[in-house]
Amino acid sequence: MNDKPTINYGLEGIYVDESSISKVDGQNGKLWYRGYAIEELARQSNFEEVTYLLLKGRLPSRKEYDDFTKKLKERRELPGDIKDLIRKMAPTAHPMDVMRTAASMLVMFDNDPSNREGDETTEKVISLVAKLPTIAAATGRFREKKDYIPPDNNLGHSANFLYMLTGNKPNEFESKLIDLMFILHAEHSTNASTFSVLVTASTLADIYSATTTGIGTLKGPLHGGADEAALSMMNAIGDPSNTEKYIEEALEGKKRIMGFGHRVYKTYDPRAKIVRSYLEESLTKEPSDEVKRLLQIALIAEKMMIDKLGKTKGIWPNIDFFAGPLYRVLGIDSHLFTPIFVASRMSGWGAHIIEYWQNNKLVRPLEWYTGSLDLPYVPMNNR
Ligand code: ACO
Repeated sequence: MNDKPTINYGLEGIYVDESSISKVDGQNGKLWYRGYAIEELARQSNFEEVTYLLLKGRLPSRKEYDDFTKKLKERRELPGDIKDLIRKMAPTAHPMDVMRTAASMLVMFDNDPSNREGDETTEKVISLVAKLPTIAAATGRFREKKDYIPPDNNLGHSANFLYMLTGNKPNEFESKLIDLMFILHAEHSTNASTFSVLVTASTLADIYSATTTGIGTLKGPLHGGADEAALSMMNAIGDPSNTEKYIEEALEGKKRIMGFGHRVYKTYDPRAKIVRSYLEESLTKEPSDEVKRLLQIALIAEKMMIDKLGKTKGIWPNIDFFAGPLYRVLGIDSHLFTPIFVASRMSGWGAHIIEYWQNNKLVRPLEWYTGSLDLPYVPMNNR
């Protein structure tokens, strides 16, 4: 027998590729998309421009931006069969399951899904980026037995999503908040879902298969599902005065506090800082009692966790901790938080697929076998 190799459980600390899409500096709490600091993009850019940047590697000229946004708008609408599927699934299935199934079904409307020639992959990604928000919004509507609202091409990408979901045209601040969430979730190097997307893409399966894989991976509460889980915890806490007791007992019981901790960030997630600052700004705009209560709970929990685990174990708030309260400012139901993450992260997944296919290599790691060998086979009647 060979000596047992070092095993990096959960691929911790393993580099699997080179990439020029984004850089996460986990020690210093910094994030760049294609070299641009996330704080700059959050303040000055919008989701459409960020998607162009991620997919094409540079910021667009005015004409390139106009052509790109026109294309996104033209592709927002869903085929009737997909709306029917969502209508059937939405009342009982979790919206992430609806997203996964509807994204998979989009393959029916692509007459050459495996084509990777020229700009084909980029075009398919643009279509997915355009349609996933419509799927998420339709899911939200049908879940509540409301009518489908078609896209409004006078609105930008994320504002239109909010309109299709709520039926109300968002004001300037609401448009900024939803766009912020789309920008901040768009890309984050090779995390669990992006890696899973690349594993599927590396087999040269089509982009719908890869996207479906990514949605399945993002659903889990240790990854994208943490935003919904964190809000559910805040609701379980109920009143801000219960927060300390709840967190103490959870930590004593070795439970994880959702929205804290990160494989790469060992300090404050820069995206969480940005969301937190906009939440504080929302307090100046007549917030609901619910939002005030959630933010009070969040701030007490944040302080406790940083005091107890931040400085000692490097467990700090991640983007998912403050995301829930911010979505509640916009009146969005918690079951739709992770589907919004999907709609936004499609840009990053797409950028990674485009990059990976330029130099494709099948992903096939090794595992160390710990079972028996050459056992005698005993016929069933003799066992
Ligand atoms: N609450 C309490 N303790 C925690 C938390 C947490 N949120 N996160 C990690 N720890 C503790 C673990 O119990 C473990 O303690 P131990 O050494 O005493 O056993 C130690 O920190 C290390 O934890 P690991 O799970 O080994 O660290 P890993 O890097 O694998 O975990 C993860 C990263 C999965 C994100 C983890 O921090 C976690 O479960 N967080 C809660 C879920 C969450 O918020 N996920 C969203 C991440 S951001 C995103 O995906 C968009």
